[in-house]
Amino acid sequence: MPISSTIDPLPTLMPDYYESDRLLAEYLLFHYGSPAEILPPHPPAGMSDALDFAVRTVSGLAEIPNGRALDLGCAVGRSSYELSRTFTEVVGVDFSRRFIDAAAALRHGPLDYSRHDEATLSTPLQASLPPGVRPERVRFFRGDAMDLPEALSDFDLVHAANLLCRLREPRKLLQRLPSLVRPGGTLLLVTPCTWLDTFTPEENWPPGNTLDWLVSELSGSFLLESTREEPFLIRETARKFQWTSSLLSQWTRC
Ligand SMILES: C[S@@+](CC[C@H](N)C(=O)[O-])C[C@H]1O[C@@H](n2cnc3c(N)ncnc32)[C@H](O)[C@@H]1O
Repeated sequence: MPISSTIDPLPTLMPDYYESDRLLAEYLLFHYGSPAEILPPHPPAGMSDALDFAVRTVSGLAEIPNGRALDLGCAVGRSSYELSRTFTEVVGVDFSRRFIDAAAALRHGPLDYSRHDEATLSTPLQASLPPGVRPERVRFFRGDAMDLPEALSDFDLVHAANLLCRLREPRKLLQRLPSLVRPGGTLLLVTPCTWLDTFTPEENWPPGNTLDWLVSELSGSFLLESTREEPFLIRETARKFQWTSSLLSQWTRC
């Protein structure tokens, strides 16, 4: 399937946010780092439960013969590669050129990066694909989740993790979802519901609870099957971590 995308020069209020060396390194560590590389020396009880977020959100999915999956806001690609264990075709899309280039480069071998520790101190690390993934099944392209090419349609699975509340107009993605997922297919929406006016103008926020809003926006096209909380941990420095709980909702296309 040919895919091309024309990208609005300002699809986001923070167009360069995910283009810095610092964010690229944070996400390579978040997606591919080992527990020893991410956690502090004596982690408090429960901290390690928040590791492997990009693996957990796509785990336990039923195998579908010749299944096709779409990973929106894939960042540096870990969930896309994980999906290749189950799906024979996986498309990863992200707006960040640096993230997409890193995701695509990982198929050719380890990527060097520098983990920020404190002040001017850093540690050289390498990100690499885990055993068992099938890179030949995965392709990445830079695109805008609010303006996706028409060629993208009828996927067996669409996964969008921690993307919705980074979009300027999240409704545009919600309105496109029915044509992205084939009837009977699965949608995984994962969101920490951290609505910020630096990414999404307040008039585009849910009017109340995010899950109620999703149920109302997706009604008629998707049936809500289940929800669960998925915690995640992003290491900013040796002693500063973002611990967040994301709401994962699983839907079936009617
Ligand atoms: C908070 S990160 C989440 C990344 C990844 N799914 C994860 O869970 O680690 C948000 C991602 O959405 C991407 N993004 C932001 N706006 C986008 C847009 N309009 N279209 C596609 N991707 C976008 C960013 O580049 C970034 O990779």
